Amino acid sequence: MKSQVTESRLAPGRFCPPEYFYGTKAIKGASEITASTIVVCGGLYGNMAALETIENQHSGVDHIIFGGDFNWFNIDHGDFKEINDRIIRSHLAIRGNVETELSRRSTQSGCGCAYPPTTSDAEVEYSNQIINALHVTADSFPEIQDSFSKLPMFLKFRIGDTQVAVVHGDAENLAGWNFSSQEMRNPSNASRYQGYFTDSGVDIFASSHTCEPAIQLFNIDTENPRVVINNGSAGMPNFENALHGIATRISVNACPESLKLYGVKLGGIHVDAIKVNYDSTKFLRQFSRCWSAQSPAHKSYYGRIAGRTGTKISTVTESLANALGVSD
Ligand SMILES: [Fe+2]
Repeated sequence: MKSQVTESRLAPGRFCPPEYFYGTKAIKGASEITASTIVVCGGLYGNMAALETIENQHSGVDHIIFGGDFNWFNIDHGDFKEINDRIIRSHLAIRGNVETELSRRSTQSGCGCAYPPTTSDAEVEYSNQIINALHVTADSFPEIQDSFSKLPMFLKFRIGDTQVAVVHGDAENLAGWNFSSQEMRNPSNASRYQGYFTDSGVDIFASSHTCEPAIQLFNIDTENPRVVINNGSAGMPNFENALHGIATRISVNACPESLKLYGVKLGGIHVDAIKVNYDSTKFLRQFSRCWSAQSPAHKSYYGRIAGRTGTKISTVTESLANALGVSD
């Protein structure tokens, strides 16, 4: 039984390839991009309608950053080319595990998601089947695959007096899961996060890989609380019966109330989860055109795309209110 668990964890989709590691020292030594406002969109997952909404809604900000996994459901050749042409030509982007695996000619990593034991083997297998299908499309565009391999694994910004790292996974690994709410809320992990902030010199991490929204404050020292904000998915619903994606906005200026879901103000910097109000009918049309009811993407994601996420926004906002000492 024990060996079965070990084998399962090392199966494709279950482990972080060693080349996914960058570590906090690389972040500390990286150069900064100065900005007043950035919008971080991790996990677009090939949603053309969401890309359109993001570009229209945030044309005035300094940088829209696609935080990895901007490909996934876009196996249609036209969609694949257009999404990647637009993102790589006009915006900043880091590579997620999806782009990294698509850039390789052969791999044992499957989807590269490094799913934890709590994810079922069936879900992992669906993900591996999706990346295999997407790989067939990507192989028709070697110049795009080449551009994926040249994307950075993280970017660092200076916004006001604050340092911000945009990562896909966590502070050390491209597909790390340590920016999930379960890991961050576990008090026995406190020293891990202390190390992340002190070793990287970063005040705010913006992430997405776990595909579940989270925001967590850390009192590393008494003067400057630090924060991790995970936007979950920009291109899929995140909260029950709410058919919008989520992005992260970090700015010296307050967030428009019409977009704001929740957030904090740290050292004069506004850190907010914002809605990506894409046309869900349009996305469903795109999805259904490519993925039949028997497909792995349909089996694994259709419920979520239709708004059945099983996660209430209150699980995030109540925890944040507790951290801020706010009561109703
Ligand atoms: Fe990912």
